[in-house]
Amino acid sequence: MIFDILTIFPDFFESPLEEGILRRALSAGKIDVNIYNIREYAVGRHQMTDDRPFGGGEGMVMKPEPLAACIDAIVSDGGESKIIALSPRGKQYTQKVAEQLTAESRLILVCGRYEGIDQRFTDKYVDEEISIGDYVLTGGELAAMVMVDSITRLLPGVLGCSDSAANDTFSRGLLKHSQYTRPRDFQGQTVPEPLLSGNHAIIEQFRLSESVRLTLEHRPDLLTEVQFSSEERKMLKQEGLLDAIQDINQIL
Ligand code: ADE
Repeated sequence: MIFDILTIFPDFFESPLEEGILRRALSAGKIDVNIYNIREYAVGRHQMTDDRPFGGGEGMVMKPEPLAACIDAIVSDGGESKIIALSPRGKQYTQKVAEQLTAESRLILVCGRYEGIDQRFTDKYVDEEISIGDYVLTGGELAAMVMVDSITRLLPGVLGCSDSAANDTFSRGLLKHSQYTRPRDFQGQTVPEPLLSGNHAIIEQFRLSESVRLTLEHRPDLLTEVQFSSEERKMLKQEGLLDAIQDINQIL
């Protein structure tokens, strides 16, 4: 997967790409990340990348020409690519969107700053505007990095253990169960018995009911999308969780 990132702060991306799984994915050739400094595509003595908004108002707007020149230079080699602009007014980014984007071979991420990007650039060049959440960042750089990180870890061969991504929170629409490691006793708190049973079925049951309990508490909205097998439904009924799930589905 190739990520091309357009930014006015190219140094921003240095350290996150030099650590852990992202660094390994880069050196193994699973991903390629190209950072483009938008300023280098701006013309004039001051190489301005922003200007005042027509119609007046607060702040500055990113000019369309440097962004367009940068994209034209990137795609001149003809490869297929999807162009995404990071913006708080974009479509909500979720694990499902990350999974869908793993099918792309090249993503061009445009980091907005200031009051936004000139709409004519967005209309002509951008396939999709994406927001990583209902809050406003100082720019799209952190959001682009969130996308690079969350997509990269889903690519084949990137995570050490082959099923680590399959068991993620959200992968089947539930939050992930709690985890425990040594010591068995931490300040008087012990590890839940089922996890010490050595019985795979008991452990799986315990983890599923934990996941459901957590999802009911923190993100009941997710439960409207989850499918349970008849075995799972039986177990959840015994635990008194099935009624709670049905109640939530009626409310939402
Ligand atoms: N730029 C500023 N805020 C943002 C957000 N929430 N998501 C994506 N890009 C942004």
